[in-house]
Amino acid sequence: MIEINIIHLPETDSTNAYLIGLLKNKRPKEGTVIVTENQTGGRGMDNNSWESEKDKNLTFSILLYPPITAGKQFVMNKAVALGICDFLKSELPLNSVKIKWPNDVYIGDKKACGILIQNSVTGTNFDYSVTGIGLNVNQTIFLGDAPNPVSMKMVSGIDYQLGNVLDKLLVSISERYEQVCKGLHGNIETDYQCALYRLREWHGFELKGIRIKACVKGTNEYGQLLLDTEEGGTCVCDVKEVKFVI
Ligand code: BTN
Repeated sequence: MIEINIIHLPETDSTNAYLIGLLKNKRPKEGTVIVTENQTGGRGMDNNSWESEKDKNLTFSILLYPPITAGKQFVMNKAVALGICDFLKSELPLNSVKIKWPNDVYIGDKKACGILIQNSVTGTNFDYSVTGIGLNVNQTIFLGDAPNPVSMKMVSGIDYQLGNVLDKLLVSISERYEQVCKGLHGNIETDYQCALYRLREWHGFELKGIRIKACVKGTNEYGQLLLDTEEGGTCVCDVKEVKFVI
């Protein structure tokens, strides 16, 4: 298991940005975690911001040096998303904890956790992976424009102790990361496919701006989403091309 070293900041704009800043001058130890209870400029996917009320949620970033080649980097998204699912399933015994492709963690039809992985690669070599995680824990009112946020408290009614949640979550993520390091990519792959939100269910999607009905078949080796269509074909989709209609 990797050794975790938590650096706690009372406030920072973005834990990912802070950690990437540290990497400019030195090579901090693998397992360095930057956590803050007041992230003032949290970053999300697609240049979105990440809303997190002070003292209510987990916003943190983990530094990893994965022993994989650059072409295999999507395994990190899968492993981290699975670690978060493992944790949420142990805390909230529900069948509805799923991974909405590529790596949002959903409870039912709502988003509980976002992941922003920023990798640095040189040629085929992996330099580092900064994995930023925003998990909604105790926040119950969301003011931003995120369409469907949910928190652990909104599901269970429990007010969680954030330090305790962070410790358990880091164990679950480390266990999945260990599978990456041991080359157990097949296990990660199988569990990821099973955990996909709306797997083998017919739902609406927007593909390149056109509304279709389709069924999630899985993902391919490049991490693209495979959608079976009503016409009997399979679409291979990149992140920017497809939207789930929820
Ligand atoms: C998403 O858009 O779903 C990804 C959200 C990632 C948010 C986390 S919070 C901790 C870390 N620091 C950031 O600025 N972003 C990530």
